[in-house]
Amino acid sequence: MNLHRIEWNDEYKTGVPAIDADHRQLIELANEFLSAAAAEAALHQLSPIMGRLIVHAAEHFAAEESLLDRNGYPDLARHRAEHERLMAQARTLHTRTQASADRDEVWRITHEAAEFFQRWLLEHIIREDKPFRTFVMRLA
Ligand SMILES: [Fe+2]
Ligand SMILES: [Fe+2]
Repeated sequence: MNLHRIEWNDEYKTGVPAIDADHRQLIELANEFLSAAAAEAALHQLSPIMGRLIVHAAEHFAAEESLLDRNGYPDLARHRAEHERLMAQARTLHTRTQASADRDEVWRITHEAAEFFQRWLLEHIIREDKPFRTFVMRLA
């Protein structure tokens, strides 16, 4: 676990242009957070970045669910529940960045956030988003 940037990799491609563009944007926002955290930015500087990431993630999840819904994706309910679980975790992390915290807590939050971004962005994309490709290619 580290605070290194996340590099885009073709392995993350779903093949649906609008979805891939959203994913790249989310990775860029996560990188903004990771760069600031690596530079030991204060929580009041990190918190708005995470706030923006949450807003964009919520918009992306809604757009993705709508696309899956229009295509009759059979695993939509489970996928939506997974999005909700991730958003709840992100909001909890965001709330912690808004509270005043000592140095150890800042360290814990930034490292938990970094780990979460790796899981959230990359594992979710690879395990959950890539499999819907064949369903949405008809409309994309
Ligand atoms: Fe998804
Ligand atoms: Fe996605």
